[in-house]
Amino acid sequence: MSDTFSITTPIYYVNDLPHIGHIYTTVMADIFARYHRMAGRRVRFLTGTDEHGQKIERAAAAQGIEPIALADRVVERYHELWKELGISHDDFIRTTEPRHHRAVHEMIRRMQASGDLYQGSYTGWYCAGCEAFYPETQLVDGKCPDQGHPVERLSEPSWFFRLSAYQDRLLEWYRENPDCIRPRSRYNEVVRFVEGGLNDLSVSRTSVRWGVPWPGDPDHVVYVWLDALTNYVSALGFGSEDDGLFREFWPADLHLVGKDILRFHCVYWPAFLMSAGLPLPRTVFGHGWWKTGESKMSKSLGNVVRPDAHIRRFGPDAVRYFLAREMTFGADASFSNEAFVERYNADLANHLGNAASRTLSMIGRFLGGTMPAAGSEGVLPERAAETVAVYRERMEALEPNRALEAVWAFLADLNGFIQERQPWAIAKGGETARPELEAVLGTAAESLRITSILIEPFMPRIAAALHEAMGSPSTPRDLDGGARWGLLAGGATIGKPKPLFPRVDLEEFVKELEMEQQKDSKTPEKKDERQERTITIDELAKVELKVGVVLEAERIPKSKKLLRLRVDLGEEEPRQIVAGMADSYEPEAMVGRRVVVVANLKPAKLMGVESQGMILAADIGGRAFLLSPDGEVPPGTTVR
Ligand code: MSP
Repeated sequence: MSDTFSITTPIYYVNDLPHIGHIYTTVMADIFARYHRMAGRRVRFLTGTDEHGQKIERAAAAQGIEPIALADRVVERYHELWKELGISHDDFIRTTEPRHHRAVHEMIRRMQASGDLYQGSYTGWYCAGCEAFYPETQLVDGKCPDQGHPVERLSEPSWFFRLSAYQDRLLEWYRENPDCIRPRSRYNEVVRFVEGGLNDLSVSRTSVRWGVPWPGDPDHVVYVWLDALTNYVSALGFGSEDDGLFREFWPADLHLVGKDILRFHCVYWPAFLMSAGLPLPRTVFGHGWWKTGESKMSKSLGNVVRPDAHIRRFGPDAVRYFLAREMTFGADASFSNEAFVERYNADLANHLGNAASRTLSMIGRFLGGTMPAAGSEGVLPERAAETVAVYRERMEALEPNRALEAVWAFLADLNGFIQERQPWAIAKGGETARPELEAVLGTAAESLRITSILIEPFMPRIAAALHEAMGSPSTPRDLDGGARWGLLAGGATIGKPKPLFPRVDLEEFVKELEMEQQKDSKTPEKKDERQERTITIDELAKVELKVGVVLEAERIPKSKKLLRLRVDLGEEEPRQIVAGMADSYEPEAMVGRRVVVVANLKPAKLMGVESQGMILAADIGGRAFLLSPDGEVPPGTTVR
């Protein structure tokens, strides 16, 4: 087995704050990184953020800030959260960094040298409202999937990658490397997809500005997935002179991704790498989805769980444990507070917490707080050896939840042993019973010490706290050297054990969550006031706003304020609209202006003239400032 291990998470979009789904991928990657370090390998663990593309461009525009300002803000939150959760990544790559741009350009240079890039035009369904192309398969009832806008068939110039030429080579790679995609069901899915034939891939955009400029063709930016996937090598120094890490840690041993982005990692990425003449990753693992009820947890469905309250109330390690234990690695699972609290109380407070606190408090009470040396009573020494072996096998086989099962079966044996041998009864035998008492408690303590090593990848802080409570200063991070029976030397003085996992009541926790949500909505008075003025999205959708072009404008006789306008709204006939702007704009200054019109307002007569709509303007003390679209938008365009 190799002495290095290189693992990655996907890089996260910065249009959203992290939720349980994102945390899961990163926590699982951290667990493997820690496990392999503990198994003595040199590890490279990479995570980061995906900061380019239309999604980010639009999210930033909606907040009225530059994309980079949005990225900086969200990246900050990622850094804080990873620290809180004890994520031990070696590097954090941002796709806006120069080192990344350099690597993307080098990839493109190589792909070009292979003759795999050519110019063409990309045709798709374009939504003017969203400024985005959608493939036919993504349309919903013939409209754009995001906002339900009408779409039109349009083309834009684009660079293409000859993906179709890679079908055979990809199939051969899958065939010769049956572990390159896991679990097996996902491998089969990808193979079937590629067997169905591959189209060339458009790898540049002219309709997006926020991205890596295409080398030598600055009207284009690099398609965001070619940009994003390259992060895995750019963080290792690919494309620069200082590429020592690339030589040491590429190819990646494990790309950990959610199943929704499997195709990008198992079809596009290996084809890009083949084209660039680079080695392919050893394994892409597609894990399942966290769901809320029956649906995937996602921002667009509005059902995400943010982990802050759970981290605060139960501690970061309990969150890590729950994620790793509750989900069979590769399958889907549901996130619920009930399941969380139940597992916390049963597995952590009861099994692990009890085994630790009983053992340590009896050493305090019956042995004056002096740690006994490892005993070797009953089945525990043998069970420990078996557990370490099974644990190792399962971690290597990418079955972390089953590795935990093995540790918890061992803890059940430990609790059973304490129950059966009743150290509190032995203690009644006084001095003569002391050797037996030391042997029994020394056996329990040695079991705990080995447990603290096995749980380190999953719960690093708890492992360290447990180790420390046992009077040992070092953090347990050595599987070969440390998880062998009989190493507990004894003699250390232990302090008064603190409970590792105070019990939590489900109802109280749910109440706490609710209170927090209320707090988030500011003070009660403010909330009421805001609620009164609040309208629903459906109510808002009733207002039809359109771009209009003013064709004619004249004063209405005998009125100081009113203008009569004729406005083109892209309909058969221009509309007559009366606007109270005569003291702000001369009529001739209005002609030719693009304005925003409330198009479905009930007609009304003003000074005897019918008005068939309303023109929007900002109002400062009665003075009007017209609102105009930022560009030559055609009349009739929807404003939303
Ligand atoms: N930026 C791309 C990845 C580029 S990698 C070269 C992306 N980002 S993401 O922020 O949308 O998602 C990142 C990861 O979070 C994906 O692996 C995705 O599957 C995972 N999750 C997002 N929601 C999830 C769940 N509800 N459950 C589990 N993981 C999910 O995709």
